[in-house]
Amino acid sequence: MSEKITRRASLAGAVALPFALSGNAPAAEVGLDAVARGRGMRFGSALSARAQGASMDNPAYAALLRADCGLLVAENEMKWQHLRPAPGKFDFAAFDRIMAWGTANHMAVRGHNLLWQRRKWMPVWLEKYDFGARPARAAADILVEHITTVTKRYGKRIESYDVVNEAVTPETGALEETALSQAMGGTEATLDLAFRTAHAQAPHAELVYNDYMSWEPGNAAHRAGVLRLLEGFRRRGVPVHALGVQSHIVTAGPDTSGSARGYERNWRQFLDAVTGMGYRLLITELDVRDNGLPADPAVRDRGVADYARRYLDVMFSYPQLRDVVAWGLCDRFSWIGPFEPRPDKAARRPCPYDADYRAKPLRAAIAAAFARAPARGT
Ligand code: XIL
Repeated sequence: MSEKITRRASLAGAVALPFALSGNAPAAEVGLDAVARGRGMRFGSALSARAQGASMDNPAYAALLRADCGLLVAENEMKWQHLRPAPGKFDFAAFDRIMAWGTANHMAVRGHNLLWQRRKWMPVWLEKYDFGARPARAAADILVEHITTVTKRYGKRIESYDVVNEAVTPETGALEETALSQAMGGTEATLDLAFRTAHAQAPHAELVYNDYMSWEPGNAAHRAGVLRLLEGFRRRGVPVHALGVQSHIVTAGPDTSGSARGYERNWRQFLDAVTGMGYRLLITELDVRDNGLPADPAVRDRGVADYARRYLDVMFSYPQLRDVVAWGLCDRFSWIGPFEPRPDKAARRPCPYDADYRAKPLRAAIAAAFARAPARGT
């Protein structure tokens, strides 16, 4: 471990980066993962296998990944919709390429995800599947086969999995259902089986429940539902080790420090309850939705950076948090634009680098937050 840290840190420190840096980023910037490692933490990003996208096949994007990341996650390629095109068929080609690139570049790769508890994001065939005369048994077989096949294939190369993604309905805090969990006869039984199977097949791996309950107002029911779910896992002795806090955070206006101050108390109560049950924390999908900020890129970037730095300061005060993954490094490819365009149609600026691969104040804010974070023990 320490050998790896030294190697990455010196690599990032010694090499002038092959892309333009702007704003308050100094010329020979140290990579974000290297800064994180100095605190016993790690930094990484999502990437895709689409050649023209946020991909290792895009040289400009690959340069950002190499410079800043020690940890990777496939934006889509491990999801059922991509990996499991038909009931009896797996297609590992795209994810395998990501894994091979990560290995060649000495980066860890997280698994995202083994079960997305949302109908919309599971394959269409599963919603229409005929589970037959013994539906609970048939559904369990499909789930166990899926998780066993994926975890066996990657073995010790994957040390951390988002086993279950987004099982709680934000508006009510109730559990989501899919065709699979209905056939199983209940969502709790489905989620428990997912974690127990992952633990049996990959006993070395960190098993994570991942969701987007966030610190902004309007998330109280979502947070309460996640707490109930996490309590239930503990009560039933289900092997769940950590909460993945997606961290798709959202600005509300120019007073970013006022917002952050206003949110901190409730958010800490939530995190205290989670860590009080013995769960570790991860930031799994960091980006910033630049709502309520003026279109002027310089003003917007400052607001985004300030808001993120305040959020990270709170998160980093929890020693249970070590890993931070950004949901993409470059504004050009971020999912936020298509998912929720700004009302004024200005291009979204949610990532550490702009559409031309130039570092933004958000990158400096992440570096500063790491540099200030209390060091984690080994
Ligand atoms: C998103 C991807 O970024 C998109 O490309 C895809 O169309 C939908 O999924 N929470 C998650 C991620 O757990 O998997 C989602 O990724 C974003 C929200």
